[in-house]
Amino acid sequence: MKKTIHFFLNGNLKEVQVKAETTVLELLRNKLELNGIKEGCGEGDCGACTVVIGEVREGRVHYKSVTGCLYLAAKLEGKHLITIEGLAEKGKLHPIQEAILSSHATQCGFCTPGVSLSILALYLERSNPTKEEFRRYLEGNLCRCTGYDSIRKVPEYLKELSVCSENLRPSFLEATEEQQLGFIQEDVFVDDGTFAYYSPVSEEHLIEFLSTHKELTGGNNLRYINGGSDVLVGIKKRNQHYRLLLDISRITSLQQISYQDKPQEAKALILGGGVSLSRVIDSTRESFSELSATVQRMCSEQVRSSATVAGNIVNASPVADTVPLLMAVDAVLTLQGQEGERSVPLRNFFHGYKQTENKPEEWIASICVPLGEYNFINFEKVSKRKEVDIAAVNSAIALKIEEGIINRAEVACGGVGATTLYLPKTSRYLEGKEMKEETFLGAFEVINTEATPIGDVRGSAQYRSAVMQNLLLKHYLAYERSQEVDGYEE
Ligand SMILES: Cc1cc2nc3c(=O)[nH]c(=O)nc-3n(C[C@H](O)[C@H](O)[C@H](O)COP(=O)(O)OP(=O)(O)OC[C@H]3O[C@@H](n4cnc5c(N)ncnc54)[C@H](O)[C@@H]3O)c2cc1C
Ligand code: FES
Ligand code: FES
Repeated sequence: MKKTIHFFLNGNLKEVQVKAETTVLELLRNKLELNGIKEGCGEGDCGACTVVIGEVREGRVHYKSVTGCLYLAAKLEGKHLITIEGLAEKGKLHPIQEAILSSHATQCGFCTPGVSLSILALYLERSNPTKEEFRRYLEGNLCRCTGYDSIRKVPEYLKELSVCSENLRPSFLEATEEQQLGFIQEDVFVDDGTFAYYSPVSEEHLIEFLSTHKELTGGNNLRYINGGSDVLVGIKKRNQHYRLLLDISRITSLQQISYQDKPQEAKALILGGGVSLSRVIDSTRESFSELSATVQRMCSEQVRSSATVAGNIVNASPVADTVPLLMAVDAVLTLQGQEGERSVPLRNFFHGYKQTENKPEEWIASICVPLGEYNFINFEKVSKRKEVDIAAVNSAIALKIEEGIINRAEVACGGVGATTLYLPKTSRYLEGKEMKEETFLGAFEVINTEATPIGDVRGSAQYRSAVMQNLLLKHYLAYERSQEVDGYEE
């Protein structure tokens, strides 16, 4: 088991000792004296601390942008960390930096390193990015002085300079990729007596560790960490510390996305317990487009690239965005522990505020999402900003409509109780009724009997009740719109 971590920094192999709670931001600025990375919010919101990570998956190196303030340094084992210091080579600016200069997209410079690295991650991962992809990758970078229009011009300048993705690869990339592909992944364990971090490479190693390190894993000592976007905010902003952070993000078996498509069995999408939100956006666009679109409205690319669906569920926030949708379609979790595995429907997973069905040492191995049972599925969210913002209230519906009649209905709603709520009475009320506005208006009273919202900074109890009803109607309006679009195309 490794006590130091080995990773590539701008093409050079590094061996460093880190503490369990040290972030990449802290490692770079405080230990390695690379100050190009900036600290703004310290909680994933501004993008000033963006860096690029290269990691091996399915036999090739994939690149992603992450926020250094929410990415643990110990996670870097075997990875390639690219910082702003790695961009200019031999005294010459990188083409992305040239393009940023030419499009007047920099002024104070605090946000520019992060903007440059978000663009680099995009071009390293996608050979010919679309405008939409450019927007997606820049969503998490705040710039309050030059404005986004100038930043949006960067791809045009790159095109004018006839620069394609291939020319944007730093010169050290090829040799580093070769070394990364040959890197032997081992478990990492660091412990300074106060806080420990363990990152196994397989579920077998995890099970063995749980049985041999009871002093670290018993009681409330253990906290699993996946992308870390919730856990790190807790540690750094709310002083919520754990004796052991057990990182399951390097376990390959939890990274799988597959389909259950056996004869006699219902079709289903199986998401591994370590699958990131970014991978969900790309891989479910065809099979479950509503999930892809929902996830696209969560966080920012730098957060989504590491944050997981499993983390969104277990964090048990009453406004977690994947939960109402997965509840509506009746997703089932596979919980794995030392004694074996068990299945739990997501609808039965939450017991109360931040109280969940899994035992402290059980982890979500996979999430089974039934497919093809409904012909209208919709997710709605009300938040202050359209994107990169936590919801005040969110809601999902799944309907089977036949000849204008709702034959099956499933409704779930978040932000109106201590947990996300599956709403059986509202669901049954809708069944057997005509798919028309009056049916949904008629359900307003029923839905109010199923949820008792409480007020907080994002909205009063009264406001939340009203939004919950309005979102029910909005589901109907979304259906109507979808029919208009279909009609127009015909
Ligand atoms: C800037 C920012 C914006 C955000 N915006 C949104 C938003 O718009 N909508 C939204 O819903 N959320 C949002 N979030 C919250 C967060 O990104 C999500 O909840 C995310 O999906 C958490 O995943 P993670 O892997 O990072 O979880 P982690 O932080 O690693 O873990 C969260 C919890 O889940 C547990 N856990 C994780 N994986 C497993 C597993 N496989 N088995 C058992 N337990 C596990 C951990 O022990 C921990 O208790 C935002 C967060 C940030 C920082
Ligand atoms: S410092 Fe703002 S996202 Fe990290
Ligand atoms: S260059 Fe400073 S906020 Fe954008």
